[in-house]
Amino acid sequence: MNFEPNESQLQTQTIAREFAEKDLLPTIRERDASRAFPLDLFRKFGKTGIYGLPYATEIGGLGGSYLAYVLAVEEVSKVDGAFGIAFSVDTSLYGGSIANSSAPDAIKKKFLAPITYGEKIGSFGLTEHSAGSDAAGQRTVAVKDGDSYILNGSKCFNTNGPMADYTVIYCLTDPELGTKGMAAFVVEKGTPGFTVGQVEDKMGIRTAQVSDMHLTNVRVPVENMIAKPGEGFKLAMKTLDGGRIGVAAQGLGIAKGAFEIARKYMMERQQFGKPICKQQYLAFKMAELQTKIQAAELLLYKAAMAKEEGKPYTVPAAMAKLTCTNVAMEVTSEAVQMLGGNGYMKGYHVERMMRDAKITQIYEGTNEIQKLVISGQLFR
Ligand code: CAA
Repeated sequence: MNFEPNESQLQTQTIAREFAEKDLLPTIRERDASRAFPLDLFRKFGKTGIYGLPYATEIGGLGGSYLAYVLAVEEVSKVDGAFGIAFSVDTSLYGGSIANSSAPDAIKKKFLAPITYGEKIGSFGLTEHSAGSDAAGQRTVAVKDGDSYILNGSKCFNTNGPMADYTVIYCLTDPELGTKGMAAFVVEKGTPGFTVGQVEDKMGIRTAQVSDMHLTNVRVPVENMIAKPGEGFKLAMKTLDGGRIGVAAQGLGIAKGAFEIARKYMMERQQFGKPICKQQYLAFKMAELQTKIQAAELLLYKAAMAKEEGKPYTVPAAMAKLTCTNVAMEVTSEAVQMLGGNGYMKGYHVERMMRDAKITQIYEGTNEIQKLVISGQLFR
């Protein structure tokens, strides 16, 4: 099995790396403090067509590879994990909902093409206060009225929500049927009755814009229904499988970014008359972390390749998400420790990376949910 990226995938990786280092890195500290999302930079990166990269050209994507997308998320997350999740939600949760849906190609194109080049931004509305890990516990409803549906309810923890032009809202057309009565609609910004709550103040990924979304008698044309009644839950689950690969890439990027800062620091920092990397205990710790990073990378690229090749990827995605995000937490925490007092200070980035890493173990299915998915397949 070969999980080595090809030339075109490596080109995408280079574009993302240069963007992260030249455009994101210089302002990351101030943005983390002020919680300002770099919308201008998001649009600038979008000019490459990166947000629609893995989707077919017929529906407005670039017809590129999922592994290339993964490499790009990883690269930006090495520097800025918040940008990584904004990118991942736009492409894999919003774009994935559209691409995986049963909507006609013309509708897919209408809602996907504008995000490909960053002109519009997408968000994903599944989670509710009563429906977190139990995604089936939805209360948002859609009632048919002529050639429209009227939506009522609330969503929470919507990444990109405050700036999204389009949000996919998962909701029940028949609450009695539970998951079998779920549909999905694209709701456009500015639709009367559709409002966005306060931007959340978070521990990490501070510049990522996250909010509640409220729907009060929101009239949505039937052509915006991308999952018919009964199809919504499976569309959400399938889309989350792709999203979890994106979060795994975000986690791996954060881990690699923190590892590299620690590695360089250990070669420069002198204590007891020699660089601290000459302390075998610390060098062995780095050897262990490097091994874990590479093991996580293999799981991630394997999951991305499975998706790209049309093989089942639910379990590979869950394994990649579980492993990469746990590695992110471990590596960032160890990096803070390696840098000692300096690691705890803002200037070295690793404390931010540690804060950013935590959420990767929680969103798009907690790591306990990933174990549920993996063990569920084991004992079928
Ligand atoms: N792909 C396709 N279909 C799937 C599927 C998948 N991966 N997983 C389940 N299904 C189907 C099942 O086959 C089943 O179909 P049938 O009824 O025809 O048999 C149906 O969906 C129901 O499946 P389950 O009985 O397994 O469903 P469940 O209610 O037990 O839930 C769960 C399973 C895995 C726990 C699911 O609820 C889950 O993934 N929970 C976590 C939710 C989550 O990840 N939320 C994150 C939201 S996004 C976010 O984090 C915010 C952000 O902006 C970043």
